[in-house]
Amino acid sequence: MKRVILDVDTGVDDALAIMYGVLSDNLTIEAICTVGGNTGIEQATENTLALLELLDAADVPVYMGAKYPLKPGAHEGASNVHGQRGIGGASLRRASVSARSTYAANAIIEHVRRSPGELTIVTLGRLTNLALAVQMAPDIVDLVQAVVVMGGAISHPGNITAVAEANVYNDPEAADIVFQSGCSITLVGLDVTMKCLLTRDQAELWRNRSNIPGYRFLYESTSYYMDFYDKTWNLGGCPLHDPLALMVAEDPTLVRRSKLPVAIETTGSVTRGMTVADRRVSPLRAWSTCDVAVDVDAAPVLERFVGVIDRGLERGR
Ligand code: RIB
Ligand code: CA
Repeated sequence: MKRVILDVDTGVDDALAIMYGVLSDNLTIEAICTVGGNTGIEQATENTLALLELLDAADVPVYMGAKYPLKPGAHEGASNVHGQRGIGGASLRRASVSARSTYAANAIIEHVRRSPGELTIVTLGRLTNLALAVQMAPDIVDLVQAVVVMGGAISHPGNITAVAEANVYNDPEAADIVFQSGCSITLVGLDVTMKCLLTRDQAELWRNRSNIPGYRFLYESTSYYMDFYDKTWNLGGCPLHDPLALMVAEDPTLVRRSKLPVAIETTGSVTRGMTVADRRVSPLRAWSTCDVAVDVDAAPVLERFVGVIDRGLERGR
């Protein structure tokens, strides 16, 4: 069992990752922290709580975190991608439970200190909560088992600017703090997530089963998300950004990885938010070395994702 803290900005693909995490037999979701990003912090938190309730997993503690990035003024919300409420065309019954009163960064510190060496933190939004946590309590760096970051783009173009991926671009200062913290980081960026596409055919299969609330949610959220990716990237589906990061935390062999020194660009007027990897034969030693996911075979990822969802939703019927 891999014990995980998820940090989310729920978000259609965050929602898919939460579903996968709750339904996988190999993962225990210890806590979920929320951050502003795809939608505002309140909406992201409400989406997370309501989805957990739909999945009969309301016992997973949810902690609300940073509304804003460390340096104010960055991009806020992505309703063109994720819809007005962050979950595409889906609707969820309002959650009957609230987020816990502890602030997300403090919750990360408490959970990690309580289970030294046992927790993997998987960040699926900007890295503000984790950056605040390592600044407030540097000791947690050695107590975290691993950090898996959905973010960045090494060889692939960016999705916010020509070179920057959204989760890093939306708080480059936070990403920089995390990357320089000494945590053991696996970077799951657009280089691999843009290859793992959910197809319209899969969404149709879910539509045919939409008498079951979990499948209805999957169909209504992903078809909106797919519309965006069709219009802008002509993909014929939508990428499994956030689910892939969680799946890599569960099973690192799903991707081909390369140990590379990585730095976050925080100052460039054109390159702010870029994840720069030094791929030279003799790279800069001063940069922190990460495990960068550089390639993936999409078929087993999709099969595993759909299989876990199907088995989990069937079980809960
Ligand atoms: O760039 C993709 C990432 O940005 C995903 O985590 C998505 O949910 C958004 O947060
Ligand atoms: Ca996300």
